[in-house]
Amino acid sequence: MAGPDSTSESLDPEQIERMVDDALGAIAAAADSAQLKAVRQTHAADRSPLALANHSIGSMPKERRKDAGRLIGRARGRVNEALAARAAELEAAELAARLEAERVDVTLPVVEHPVGAEHPLTALINRMCDVFVAMGWEVVEGPELEAEWLNFDALNFTPDHPARFMSDTLFVDPPSGHTIMRTQTSPVQVRTLLDRALPVYVVSPGKVFRADEYDATHLPVFHQLEGLAVDRGITMGDLKGTLDHLAKAMFGDIRTRLRPHYFPFTEPSAEVDLECFVCHGSSVGDPERPCRACRSEGWIEWGGCGVVNPRVLVAAGIDPNVYSGFAFGMGVDRTVMFRNNAPDLRDFVEGDVRFSRSLVGGAR
Ligand code: FA5
Ligand code: MG
Repeated sequence: MAGPDSTSESLDPEQIERMVDDALGAIAAAADSAQLKAVRQTHAADRSPLALANHSIGSMPKERRKDAGRLIGRARGRVNEALAARAAELEAAELAARLEAERVDVTLPVVEHPVGAEHPLTALINRMCDVFVAMGWEVVEGPELEAEWLNFDALNFTPDHPARFMSDTLFVDPPSGHTIMRTQTSPVQVRTLLDRALPVYVVSPGKVFRADEYDATHLPVFHQLEGLAVDRGITMGDLKGTLDHLAKAMFGDIRTRLRPHYFPFTEPSAEVDLECFVCHGSSVGDPERPCRACRSEGWIEWGGCGVVNPRVLVAAGIDPNVYSGFAFGMGVDRTVMFRNNAPDLRDFVEGDVRFSRSLVGGAR
């Protein structure tokens, strides 16, 4: 396309009309905003034929300038109008295409990512500790990897006590190092008596490890809540009252029984049983309806307890003529089992998400 002769004395209306036709043709042919931008550059910007024609007006004789100006003005006006209209058209089409491409179906089912929750055992440990904190007790912790001496010797276990055998206790290599995975939370009793000034009222929750059976009521890794109170004038009655209070806080109205037992570090000793929440004793002596939860015994053991053996006090440098104490170690997993009517402890560790989900938010 030939540009206008800038020295011409007048503008050729046909030439201007051709410029407009060229521009309108290019505008109509622009398929998207980018092409339209190039068309604008060629046909409407400073170096476009119409702009150059407009410049040439300045060099015309004065009397022609007015007509020439009007001619060019109209021509540029038509081109600009067409540009604006096409731009609006293309923008609308492009927006529609984008909306279509980015369409979101809000009616599709949402992919639900399960939200994490506090583990039922952690929640329960906190609740059990709260019962004691409310009575002014303190919460202390001990290590899971423990000295054999603290787990056994200081608690008055004889060197040949069967619990020490490798068949029951997990020893850490080499066995000559006498380091074990603690089999009970009771070593925390000794640590507490060695560390703290009297009187002491402490509870200590945590994991314990045993080469134990694996069944509805036994896991090889489980949890205990240890309790120890040492003060002047402590009796078995204080122990009974404290455990009754804990049982009530945990289970409401439940039948418990204290059964004489033996622990090397308490004297007298007892075990606390809870009436089976599955059969309530009805399976006892009824081979037709065996109970898997209590093995048809009617009761499930909850924990061990007793009056602190004076030998343990002496080992910790405490005068047993002045001070006495009681201690207990309750099974936390058994507690969660009763509170949630879960007849098999293995469900807690086998990782079936359907079981965990049934407890999330529901575990108490
Ligand atoms: C003890 O471990 C003593 N240390 C308890 C104690 C503390 C007595 C203070 C006196 C003074 P025992 O081995 O019975 O005792 O275990 C205590 C409780 O832990 C049991 O009653 C039971 O509730 C729980 N328990 C024991 N073995 C398992 C297991 N394999 N799986 C789940 N819970 C268990
Ligand atoms: Mg026991």
